[in-house]
Amino acid sequence: MTAATGPTTVVAVLVAAGSGERLGAGVPKAFVEIDGVTLLEHAVRRFATHPAVGTIVVVAPAADVSRAGVLADAAAGHDGPTPRSGWSDGSALGRARVLVVAGGATRQASVAAGLAVTDAGFVLVHDVARPFVPGVVIDAVLAALTDGADAAVPVVPIHDTVRRVHPDGSFAGTVDRSTLVAIQTPQGFRRDVLVAAHEAGRHLAVTDDAALVEAAGGAVAAVAGSDEAFKVTTPLDLTRAQAVARLGSASTPDVTTG
Ligand code: CTP
Ligand code: MG
Repeated sequence: MTAATGPTTVVAVLVAAGSGERLGAGVPKAFVEIDGVTLLEHAVRRFATHPAVGTIVVVAPAADVSRAGVLADAAAGHDGPTPRSGWSDGSALGRARVLVVAGGATRQASVAAGLAVTDAGFVLVHDVARPFVPGVVIDAVLAALTDGADAAVPVVPIHDTVRRVHPDGSFAGTVDRSTLVAIQTPQGFRRDVLVAAHEAGRHLAVTDDAALVEAAGGAVAAVAGSDEAFKVTTPLDLTRAQAVARLGSASTPDVTTG
């Protein structure tokens, strides 16, 4: 199915299988809590409450698939735990269905594992480490796909001055910041484009999916990202996350109670 041929279903693949080494919390990053709510639940809520998203695929650490399933179901507003062997179907409730699969050793492998169980026309690939992505960013990515883009990524300006360094650490020159942007998620794709790019780029080491599409010769559209879609990487980011969670709780519906 292409963007031009009518209604297109949307699957959100939320990658959560990383270990969170730089955060150093002693548990996988997806299970770190902000005000008693895990990053995984925060991220699932953002997609479960988006009207275009029909299915959420959570890619969890292999040892934590069942725990991730319980949390994701609750965050998506489903009633009680559901069997992990199949879909938790929230469609009767007007909510996204949820599936949890085990991830791989790299982010790329985890995305591929999630992608393998998708069936939609459009796929949104999102880092659970970005738990507070606003709905307007999801809207912008989907709008670009609906307008015909094969791939779309949210971008934000870079505020720091950036320099190249030699391997020995000495400076090799300043980079013109006005020509640079930072890339966020969710990154959106026509499913067939992303599947082909993953297939072709199996032996490439990249940190995001848009790079695979570009490597395969595809064009990637840029849309406006948001400071709120920042990535939780180091311990100080948790302080920022807590502040954003408190801001957002006034405007983000809690589907577990609504
Ligand atoms: N991710 C994944 N599978 C992996 C590695 C990463 O699903 N094998 C996911 C993470 O869970 C995260 C996103 O990819 O949501 C971005 O990765 P990153 O921020 O690097 O998270 P971690 O790999 O968990 O952190 P670190 O690199 O510090 O260990
Ligand atoms: Mg990582």
